[in-house]
Amino acid sequence: MTSLNIRRSIEELPGSRIREVARLGMGKPGVIPMWFGESDLPTPAFIRDAAAAALQRGETFYTPNTGVPELRAAIATYMSRLYRRPIGEERVMVTASGMSAIMIVLQTLVGAGDNVAIVGPMWPNAAECVRIMKGEPRFVTLEAGNEGWRLDLDRLFDACDARTRAIFVNSPGNPTGWMMGNEQQRAILDFARARGLWVVADEVYARIVYDRDVAPSFLDVAEPEDPVIVVNSFSKAWCMTGWRMGWVTTPVALGEILAKMNEFNIAGPTTFAQWGAIAALEQGEDFVLWQRRRLAASRALVAERLPRFRRVRFTPPDAAFYAFFEVEGMADSLAGCKRILAETGVGLAPGIAFGEAGEGRLRMCYAQAPEKVAEALDRLGPSLD
Ligand SMILES: Cc1ncc(COP(=O)(O)O)c(C=O)c1O
Repeated sequence: MTSLNIRRSIEELPGSRIREVARLGMGKPGVIPMWFGESDLPTPAFIRDAAAAALQRGETFYTPNTGVPELRAAIATYMSRLYRRPIGEERVMVTASGMSAIMIVLQTLVGAGDNVAIVGPMWPNAAECVRIMKGEPRFVTLEAGNEGWRLDLDRLFDACDARTRAIFVNSPGNPTGWMMGNEQQRAILDFARARGLWVVADEVYARIVYDRDVAPSFLDVAEPEDPVIVVNSFSKAWCMTGWRMGWVTTPVALGEILAKMNEFNIAGPTTFAQWGAIAALEQGEDFVLWQRRRLAASRALVAERLPRFRRVRFTPPDAAFYAFFEVEGMADSLAGCKRILAETGVGLAPGIAFGEAGEGRLRMCYAQAPEKVAEALDRLGPSLD
């Protein structure tokens, strides 16, 4: 193909390998879609109603770059309650999704030749944002053991040099379900303070946990002025993936800068959707707990049945809603995933989509009714045994 005369780093962006599988099966009758990170449930009615009411009363104008004041206040109240410490609304900004928050933050931090240390295997999008900014993502991979995933902090710190702008940590992690504890968060924060780095904490799965109310957060250990940016989303806990609503919590000093980045990317998040988000935060706690019980039932099924397949090695995740399992003898997870889709009608994500460290594995999103998960496991048997 002749050159499009666009930036090389954009022309060379890889396509999503999850979508490559999904394209083969999306919408096909009988396919159980477990490739994307989303629930099979639509957004709860009370959230949809709040957005619809806002639309009806004419909430159709631009909002401040940072979001409607009512939503910023609702986020601050929610976060202060969840983390048992005051988090002021001047520290939060509404974004058009977790994805947009990550892009805006990395546009702000990363220039050509800079690098970002990323704990992997991880959902690929953050690394691609770094590449779009002509930076270098440096993966430091978790080690898989019988007790689950483990991060060697020395390796993470060794990956940082004079051109490192940030350490990017996604916990609870997609695809691993790994959850970082406060002790490691404290150590990373100390390192970041000493070295003048930012910590970008992707905590979009903070509420998808099983034995607690919320995952350990950098907000537990950081002071308000610390160089920590926490990314959150409405997508997972309230089943709002299609709404494209998220938020960031930052030091006050960064607020004005990020507001400008919202201006130049999206101006502001969709106005009536923000009113739905307020309902999610103010009335959504019962739903969050109900969804968690439903996910726990699906997780229990997966934990019981996946290890019974002879070729599968699997440790149940601490958090999030993914089973990320190794398949003995599967060297090419993309080809494996396509074959499994053709043979069983179950749509999974290939481990290679999450970097080299994910090769040989498959990811199943089990945020589905337990009956559906059971059926998927029934069907997978012949391909994995
Ligand atoms: C780790 C992680 N971060 C961020 C996101 C972005 O979520 P959204 O853009 O829907 O808010 C996702 C979505 O799958 C994710 O898995």
